[in-house]
Amino acid sequence: MAVYNIRCSYEENLAKGPNLALEDLPFTLVGQPRYEFWGKKLNSRLGIPAGLLLDSRWVRLYARLGFDILAYKTVRTRPQPSLPHPNCLLVAAALPCSPKAIPESLTVSQRYRPVTEISMTNSLGMPSQTPEVWQPDLVRSKESLLPGQMLIVSVVGTAEDNQPARFIQDFVRAAALAAEAGAEVIELNFSCPNAPVAEGQIYEAPEFAGQITKAVRQQVKELPLLIKIGYLAEDHRLARLLAAVRDDINGIVAINSLKLTVLDQQGRQALPGAGRSQSGVSGYALKELARDFIRRLVELKQKERYDFKILAAGGILTPGDFEDFLNLGAEAALTCTGAMWDPYLALRYHLEYSLPSPDPGPLMTLDFREIGLPSQIDEDIKIEHRRGDNEILYPPTMKICPICGEPLDQIPPAAPRYCRCRLMPDC
Ligand SMILES: Cc1cc2nc3c(=O)[nH]c(=O)nc-3n(C[C@H](O)[C@H](O)[C@H](O)COP(=O)(O)O)c2cc1C
Repeated sequence: MAVYNIRCSYEENLAKGPNLALEDLPFTLVGQPRYEFWGKKLNSRLGIPAGLLLDSRWVRLYARLGFDILAYKTVRTRPQPSLPHPNCLLVAAALPCSPKAIPESLTVSQRYRPVTEISMTNSLGMPSQTPEVWQPDLVRSKESLLPGQMLIVSVVGTAEDNQPARFIQDFVRAAALAAEAGAEVIELNFSCPNAPVAEGQIYEAPEFAGQITKAVRQQVKELPLLIKIGYLAEDHRLARLLAAVRDDINGIVAINSLKLTVLDQQGRQALPGAGRSQSGVSGYALKELARDFIRRLVELKQKERYDFKILAAGGILTPGDFEDFLNLGAEAALTCTGAMWDPYLALRYHLEYSLPSPDPGPLMTLDFREIGLPSQIDEDIKIEHRRGDNEILYPPTMKICPICGEPLDQIPPAAPRYCRCRLMPDC
């Protein structure tokens, strides 16, 4: 079961909170801040892009799960309900979409794929609570962070009929409200596939994007400012966008979900209601497009000597995917769909790539005491992933492997209790 329950509406997910209790977490990752992001040191370059963190309870959970760059789901200056349930459906994509041949449509699927191959569509329309609700919640979110973590607040302006100046002002106000509540970084969402064109496709209108970033920059002054953009197939369009925003931004988050037609198994519109024949596709289907886009973005950045940071998102579903995007030149790698279905993805990454580091000691520690587990768990079972081996030693009180869900009782009784789950491909 995913942490965000796609069988329930957005409102239910918001009301009930994440489908994984903080108390059930058998560990906390204790990191060592060492990656510089706009004057702050972070434990890692892994994070969650805007979408999954519906409020402070979600921020708190994913912060404990080892994600260090946490973006609060996009908020507005005024309340707006979400589009009707269903808001998320699984879609079938045997392979990731190729940049050379993006399909016209995808079909919903009833089959749960392994997390490593999961594709979804989402259609929420950037719902928001009123600032009176989300501002104090931002304060709680920030308070819930561990050392070496950072909160980004994603905002969007609300477009009113053909009134671009008011739209820009609403972006400025949204950013000001987020800054007032303590946002460390502001992200402007220029790319929602489920919103009206005016709000959702700003990244396709470079001049307008430039006007918004300039106006917001004057408001937020020194705060790091990011824009969230969607896939652009042509280099010249990407180049124009970057040239228009370059003076005012500190980072680019890319890519947002891809706007595609989504059909049911009879070939009809899958999501109910007007204006919903197309919706945002995320996860596995997006992986190759995101890789292609980040590669081109990095090239352009190097060519033009831009100094903004690139935060990559799109189809990151395995520890190797994080590494892949970082190796492409992104400064950070974010996962929404992946973390929704596999909350232990950052932990897996740290086990595979950070923890076994030879020098100068473990980069991350799994500390069971941090979250107050039963009293018999104490110093001697505080575990550290041991360098050079592939095993985790679990405390006797733990019944289930937190990584793969394998009941530890079934592991042969010969102590010590190691789970080798992460060596199994489908785990
Ligand atoms: C349920 C859901 C809600 C999302 N909501 C937002 C949002 O509010 N703002 C935003 O900028 N992107 C939003 N996104 C897009 C993600 O941040 C991300 O860019 C996209 O899903 C691609 O990454 P992924 O393949 O790891 O999911 C949402 C995605 C999903 C799946």
